[in-house]
Amino acid sequence: MIRLSPSLLSLDFYRAKEQIEEIKEFAPYLHFDIMDGHFVPNLALGECIVKSLRPHLKDTIFDVHLMVDDPAFFLEPFARAGADILTFHVEAVRDARALIERIRALGLRAGISLKPKTPAEAILPYLDEVDLVLVMTVEPGFGGQALIPECLEKIAVLREEIDKTGRAIDLEVDGGVKVDNVFEVTRRGADLIVAGSAVFSAPDPKKAAEELLEAARRGARKA
Ligand code: DX5
Ligand code: ZN
Repeated sequence: MIRLSPSLLSLDFYRAKEQIEEIKEFAPYLHFDIMDGHFVPNLALGECIVKSLRPHLKDTIFDVHLMVDDPAFFLEPFARAGADILTFHVEAVRDARALIERIRALGLRAGISLKPKTPAEAILPYLDEVDLVLVMTVEPGFGGQALIPECLEKIAVLREEIDKTGRAIDLEVDGGVKVDNVFEVTRRGADLIVAGSAVFSAPDPKKAAEELLEAARRGARKA
């Protein structure tokens, strides 16, 4: 089933409650971009945002994307803050399996992400354990970038490999997803769509989320 995970990186924080409430019916997930200024050349959200929103959004899945050099350092703080999914980058760690096991031992879902230039093969050894694979379709660090078309084929490769496992692994795509390209993303088998600027920078975020979800479902029907 196709789901949206709107990225708060593009939220108008002065209107946070209003914007989150207006898209809620289309967004069972919220995507929190955590950046340390080292793994990516930017700083973004912190655990305080997760902690602050948690009590008000009990039914929303908090999808936390750790774009940090030392994801192990952040596991417990974000678990305490209320994360449901912790996704780290395979490029940032030596022992991905140990990290996956630590995340699951915290009772959370474990995600593994790969940057545009990282081949799908880098995460295949972990498909027997992860709950989510996050394919970056932009270089991580900033919202509002253009989707890199060369990343699309990786989605199809990973969909095939995930299906071979027979496990229920979410295939999430993140970066530059818009209403006019999401068809190509879900047609190749993605089922969890991150969208930041396409939703929260739109004049009408509710309408944008609804149209994005509908376009995503059209692609899924062609998968
Ligand atoms: C980029 C983040 C993405 C980003 C998506 O480093 O991981 O989640 O916020 O924003 P858009 O959808 O605007 O590309
Ligand atoms: Zn992200």
